[in-house]
Amino acid sequence: MAGKPLKIGVLISGRGSNLQAIIDGITRGEVAAEITVVISNEPGAYGLKRAETNGIPAVVVNHRQYPTRQEFETKLIEILKEKDVAFVVLAGFMRVLTSHFLKAFPQRVVNIHPALLPSFPGVGVQEKAVEYGVRFSGCTVHFVNEGVDAGPIIAQAVVPVFPTDTGEILADRILAMEHQIFPRVINWIAEGRVRVEGRRVIVEGAETDENRAWIEPAI
Ligand code: GRF
Repeated sequence: MAGKPLKIGVLISGRGSNLQAIIDGITRGEVAAEITVVISNEPGAYGLKRAETNGIPAVVVNHRQYPTRQEFETKLIEILKEKDVAFVVLAGFMRVLTSHFLKAFPQRVVNIHPALLPSFPGVGVQEKAVEYGVRFSGCTVHFVNEGVDAGPIIAQAVVPVFPTDTGEILADRILAMEHQIFPRVINWIAEGRVRVEGRRVIVEGAETDENRAWIEPAI
C-alpha cells in the first residue's frame, strides 16, 4: 500500500456493522483509508460505540434539531471539512442528502444499499424482495447523486433468495456480502482505481470472469 491513506468520514444511523467491517479492513491493512470522523444523526446509534472503541472521533448531529435539511447538511459539511475528510461513506445512513451536501463533495460520496439496484430502492427492501418472489437479491455500492439510491453503480454482490426466506433471513445473507464488498470498494477508491464515465463506473484492474452465471433453483 503506497501513499497516504484516504481520509474518509463515515455517516451512520444505527448498528454500524458496515462501519465495523471498514474499521476491520483498515486494521488488517486491506483498506488504504483512515476514518477521521464518524457522524450519526441518531443519538443512540450503536455504531457510535464502535467508533469510540476504536479511538475514532464520533459525533451526533441530530437532524431533528435543525429546522431545515439544508441547515442539517451545513452542520455535517462543517464537521467533515474540519476533520479534513476527502471522501464520504454512507454506511446505513437513513437521511436523504440534497444537492447542497453533494456540491460540497462532488462525486465523493458512496452508499451501500441492500438490494440489486435499480430494483428495490428505498427502505425495507429485503422484505420487499422476498414478497416479490425474486430468485436473487444482493447489495449495491454506488455513488450518491440527487436521486434516491440512483447513482452510478460501483459494485454489486448477488445472493440467492429461497422460498423459505423471511426479510430478516435474507437481510442477514445480504449483510454478509455488504461486509465483503464495501471495504473493498473503499480501498479501490483510496487507490485511485475508480472513475465514473456517465452512468458507468470503471474499476481499473478489476477481475472479470465471463463464464460466471447462477441459476436458482439450481438445475
Ligand atoms: C445495511 O443493510 C445497509 O445496506 C443499509 O442499512 C443497513 C445498515 O446496517 N443501507 P449497519 O448499520 O451497517 O449494520
